Amino acid sequence: MVPSTDAVAGAEQSAEEVVVSRDGAVGVVRLNRPKALNALSYGVVDRVMDALAGFDRDPAVGCLLLAGSRRAFAAGADIKELESETLQDMVLKRPMVAWDRIRRVAKPIVGSVNGFALGAGCELAMSCDILVAGEDAVFAQPEINLGVIPGAGGTQRLTRAVGKAVAMDMILTGRRMGAAEALQRGLVSRVVPAEAAFDEALKLAREIAAMPAIAALLAKEGVARAPEMDLDTALEYERKLFYIIFGTEDQKEGMKAFREKRPAAFRGR
Ligand code: CAA
Repeated sequence: MVPSTDAVAGAEQSAEEVVVSRDGAVGVVRLNRPKALNALSYGVVDRVMDALAGFDRDPAVGCLLLAGSRRAFAAGADIKELESETLQDMVLKRPMVAWDRIRRVAKPIVGSVNGFALGAGCELAMSCDILVAGEDAVFAQPEINLGVIPGAGGTQRLTRAVGKAVAMDMILTGRRMGAAEALQRGLVSRVVPAEAAFDEALKLAREIAAMPAIAALLAKEGVARAPEMDLDTALEYERKLFYIIFGTEDQKEGMKAFREKRPAAFRGR
C-alpha cells in the first residue's frame, strides 16, 4: 500500500528512519533520524536506495524527491558506526558499493536540502539531479577533520560540480559553503526561504513528473552522462537518444498538440 502525503507531513513523528510516501506521480523519500541529524548509517543508506529503486520501477511514478529534515539534510555517514571499522572490514564488506544504486536510477531525482549537508550528506545531495536549497543549507566535506576523505563520491562529484580549485579548497580544509555560494557555484539550482524548501522541491518534482516520461528519462541520461564523454562521443550519444524519442507516442502527441494549438495529453508511452 502506498502511504499518503500525511506520512511525509508527519515524518518527524514517525518511528521510521526513512519515510517513504507517494504524492501523485512523485515518489517521496524522506530521511527521518533527527536526533542524529540524519546520519547515514549503513541501514539508512540501504533503505534510501531500496526506496529509490522501488519508485524507479513503479510506472505510476515520474519523478523522485529526496529530502531530509528541517535542521539537517544529513550530517554525514554515521561516525559512531564507522569508528570501529578496519581496512579489512571495508575491503570485505565494501559498504560504499550501495551508493552506486542511486546512480542507476533512471528517473529524475529532485533533492530538497535544509540545514547540514555534510560529508556523505553532501554526497547524497550531489547524487540528486536537481537541488532546491533552503537559505539555511550548509554544504561541506569535513571528512579530513576525522582523519579520512570523502568516500561516497565527494572528490569526484564536487569537483565536477564546482571545479578543481573550489573542490580542493573544501575537501582539504573541510570549509563550509552556504546556500548563496552553492547557487553561485552551480552546486544547487534554486535557493528559497528555508521553510519553503520542501514545498518548492515538491512543486518542481510534480512539474517534472507531468512531463512526457520517456523524454524526461532520456534527457536526464544525456545530461548525466555529459561529463563522462568527449564532446564528439557525447553529441553522437545525444543524437541516438534523440532518435529513440521518435518511437514514442508522446512525441507524436506533443507535436500534434502544438499544430492543433491545444495542450498535449502525454501518456508516458
Ligand atoms: N554521525 C553520527 N552521529 C552524528 C553525526 C554523524 N555524522 N552528526 C551528528 N551526529 C549526532 C551527534 O553525535 C549528536 O548525538 P548525541 O546527542 O547522541 O551526542 C547529535 O547528532 C547532534 O549533534 P551535535 O550535538 O554535534 O549538534 P551540533 O549542533 O553541536 O553540531 C554538526 C552539528 C556541526 C553537524 C556536528 O554534529 C558535526 O560536525 N557532525 C559531523 C559532521 C561530519 O563530520 N560529517 C562527515 C562524516 S564522515 C563521512 O561522511 C564519510 C563519507 O564521506 C562516506
